[in-house]
Amino acid sequence: MSAAKMGVKVYLSTAGRPLDPQQATISVFDRGFLYGDSVYETLRTARGKCVEQVRHLARLRQSAAGIGLGIPFTDADIVEAIEQTLVAAQNDESSVRIVVTRGTSALTIDPRESTTPLLVVYVTPLKRHPPELYSGGLSVRIVDVRKTSHRSLDASLKTGNYLNNIQALRQAHHGDAQDAIMLNHEGAVAEGATSNVFIVAGGQLLTPSLKTGVLNGITRAVICELAESLGHPVHETTIWPKQLRAADEVFLTSSVRGAVPVTTIDGAPVNDGRVGPLTERLIEHYRRHIGDIDPV
Ligand SMILES: Cc1ncc(COP(=O)(O)O)c(C=O)c1O
Repeated sequence: MSAAKMGVKVYLSTAGRPLDPQQATISVFDRGFLYGDSVYETLRTARGKCVEQVRHLARLRQSAAGIGLGIPFTDADIVEAIEQTLVAAQNDESSVRIVVTRGTSALTIDPRESTTPLLVVYVTPLKRHPPELYSGGLSVRIVDVRKTSHRSLDASLKTGNYLNNIQALRQAHHGDAQDAIMLNHEGAVAEGATSNVFIVAGGQLLTPSLKTGVLNGITRAVICELAESLGHPVHETTIWPKQLRAADEVFLTSSVRGAVPVTTIDGAPVNDGRVGPLTERLIEHYRRHIGDIDPV
């Protein structure tokens, strides 16, 4: 096995077991491949255990229900598939991606034509982000590409269709930024390309409300709980780009990266350009909470 393939295993429901990636092949008629007609979750392990697995499985089902995709696998089936794949991959820590597609059909978008849904579980070594990311922060660009209106695609559904987020990220990269901040159809701050946004302003911790049209992020929820327990209740509200630019602190959250500070927006520093004290505290509390670093 080549070094690059080490620790990568893929479970396919059609095979019923974890496979090496080169053996894990799916139909070219799969609707996930053709149309992004699928739902997915990405999570990580800490000390070998999946972080917030129960919440991820619940959101997978909510996303599937939202697009009328009946998942024929029980949670126990999916957990078993994850466990088998983690054992086969043998990583210290892993990223786990669970995908359920609507199965195959002829070349038609008609969902009634689809066959049995396909479950895919990818296990890859957890990509550790460099410590400088957490100590120095990210640069972001507020991009023109808007979130799809919730009347077209409900942002709370985590589906395989990420083309507008990909376009957002491309625009950010062209503008020399590492990540994108997307606005909703009204121009309010929504979320990152694959993350939720928090700001500290006037001593308050704020995040765009779910009504803004953002994913109900699992890290977002955990950060809200931790912040509350530290005496910093999070206000879910509408945040406009000028508030984001003027914020004292900004950070993004996602399951794989945890909480990540943002220190540059559209080429200008956030506050003095250094990671703020509340962000630093929450990064550390989150890492302790999931077991990524030892408790005090
Ligand atoms: C669009 C979007 N928002 C937010 C998030 C963060 O969600 P979570 O904390 O559940 O990983 C993700 C994660 O992939 C995402 O794709």
